[in-house]
Amino acid sequence: MQLNDKYWNNRYEKLETGWDLGKVSIPLKQYFEQISDKKQKILIPGSGNGYEGEYLFNNNFINTHILECSSKAVHNFIKRAPSFPKNQIHNIDFFSFEGKFNLIIEQTFFCALDIKLRKDYVKKVSSLLVKGGKLVGLLFDIPLNTAHPPFGGDANEYLQLFSEKFKVEVLERCYNSISSRRGKELFVILVKK
Ligand SMILES: C[S@@+](CC[C@H](N)C(=O)[O-])C[C@H]1O[C@@H](n2cnc3c(N)ncnc32)[C@H](O)[C@@H]1O
Repeated sequence: MQLNDKYWNNRYEKLETGWDLGKVSIPLKQYFEQISDKKQKILIPGSGNGYEGEYLFNNNFINTHILECSSKAVHNFIKRAPSFPKNQIHNIDFFSFEGKFNLIIEQTFFCALDIKLRKDYVKKVSSLLVKGGKLVGLLFDIPLNTAHPPFGGDANEYLQLFSEKFKVEVLERCYNSISSRRGKELFVILVKK
């Protein structure tokens, strides 16, 4: 299985989008609500239909960027959020993207990548953050399968993977997951060293 833009576009075209919450994720919304600096530069890679990007922008986080390889998902987003600045929408492969951000948001993007790319993800996220910038979001705490996404993992694996480039500020069971993910995800705040 090649997890490329064609694969993901096809999933969006066929509405085979079991991961899609249809609204901003509750744990992320609660995290966003306590951020005071609304001017910081935020990136949401693998943003899908982009509910978190839409929420942030509508709540005056004016420097929010979304990144997504599927043109269909980007099209869905633009239809729903027509006033979102077009120069903050990146329809591109994550690993080809360049930039510098204060905050990167993770939700079901890491688990959608081929597991061979995990170290590359850590490197890329680190390179896209300023020093002291944060990777914040949700990582699945489910057995690792190698057949198809979502690819799982656990706290030990994530600690090993991220510790070289990030200080682990929070890595704990998410207490406010949506019901279908309760007990299956970790909330993380990782600070670039
Ligand atoms: C499981 S979906 C999650 C979407 C969104 N984060 C959500 O929670 O609804 C994974 C998303 O990552 C995107 N994606 C996968 N690989 C990508 C890559 N290399 N670059 C950019 N986007 C990618 C897919 O198109 C898909 O929208």
